[in-house]
Amino acid sequence: KMRIAVLTSGGDSAGMNSAVRTIVKAGILKGCETYVVREGYEGLVRGNSTPAPATPAPARSTEAEHLADDAFVHNLRFGDGELLRHGEGDASDDPDGHTLKGRYIIRVGWDDVRGWLAEGGTLIGTARSAAFRTPEGRLSAALNMVKEGIDALCVCGGDGSLTGADVFRAEWSSLIKQLLEKGSITKEQFDHHQHLKIVGLVGSIDNDMSMTDLTIGALTALHRICEAIDNINSTAISHSRAFVIEVMGRHCGWLALMAGISGGADFVFIPERPPMADPWEDEMCEVIQGHRAVGKRKTIVIVAEGAHDASMKPIAVDYVKSVLSERLGLDTRVTTLGHTQRGGKPCAFDRILPMLQGVEAVDALLEATPETPSYMIGIQENKITRIPLLEAVKQTHAIAKAVEAKDYEKAMSLRDPEFAE
Ligand code: F6P
Repeated sequence: KMRIAVLTSGGDSAGMNSAVRTIVKAGILKGCETYVVREGYEGLVRGNSTPAPATPAPARSTEAEHLADDAFVHNLRFGDGELLRHGEGDASDDPDGHTLKGRYIIRVGWDDVRGWLAEGGTLIGTARSAAFRTPEGRLSAALNMVKEGIDALCVCGGDGSLTGADVFRAEWSSLIKQLLEKGSITKEQFDHHQHLKIVGLVGSIDNDMSMTDLTIGALTALHRICEAIDNINSTAISHSRAFVIEVMGRHCGWLALMAGISGGADFVFIPERPPMADPWEDEMCEVIQGHRAVGKRKTIVIVAEGAHDASMKPIAVDYVKSVLSERLGLDTRVTTLGHTQRGGKPCAFDRILPMLQGVEAVDALLEATPETPSYMIGIQENKITRIPLLEAVKQTHAIAKAVEAKDYEKAMSLRDPEFAE
């Protein structure tokens, strides 16, 4: 049986729980043993310092019994999803010793992921692991995977997390060789773990990954921003005010741009295309004055948090506010939406997309050979796709570089080849 582990990494995004649930359920249905790694790569680095409880927690589901191998389902070590929700307790909290303390790579079954579809964030925890960025950290992660007998890893995260996955796979042979030489693993374990099977699902509210149309969580965040703009609109209209709204998106203006279009904003600042006019303040004031002149009672300016001007100076919301109040005499307020954009229930499509992609991810792992590349599971023109992880990561970095070099045309055509035609 293939042992598949799934982890979520980087900033959480709505729909990550649906991804984990799908990997677990599809994995079980396809005859695999399934594990979750708590706290992202950090959990992989830490591994399990306390043993699994001797008595398995009872499985509750009868549904699972119909769908999966009975013997397997009844043999769950952590049959109760509440354990995951309750986080770490002491062993004394549970007479059977079902505690997560000191355990990061946890065997899970059908029941553990029950009810996860509609939950926001990621119930298995996430982190931006500094340790995994070091060679020692990755060596420890490799050792923990071998110790737990994990053959395949599914990583759900953004650009940074998938870059980490790519590095891990590239180093794998050298890592397990080092472990064998140090005597940390046996020759048998070394032979069994020759190849790391790894697959990426893109979970990020920023929609900042190349070669896929949509990342898990981006649509929910967009809905959240739209609702916020709708709410602001009514109070702005009442007072005939202007609002400068800061939205997330460190390097990527997708959220800002889409929110601007769907919320009827007057002016939007995004990192990929800074205002071309010099000074941009004149252009912004002209546009807004034009809208006011035809009777608009409210003004909405959206600023992506990573937006900057043509000289790479950050566009500060308070500065935009001062321009609107001082130059146009508008009564202006600033609203920073912050983490309200990221949390909360996933919208319907952020439940469906990870489901479709999760099934594809399990298939990709089961079909992986030493010759096949590691895949990132994407969606392009409404079709679930497998894209070599290496290529997607490379292209994402090429876009960031083009933006840094102010070659916005190149950045756009890398993101969307049709743009170049
Ligand atoms: O990458 C997702 C994201 O939400 C970005 O849009 C934002 O810049 C960042 O994470 C915020 O990170 P943190 O939650 O660590 O402050």
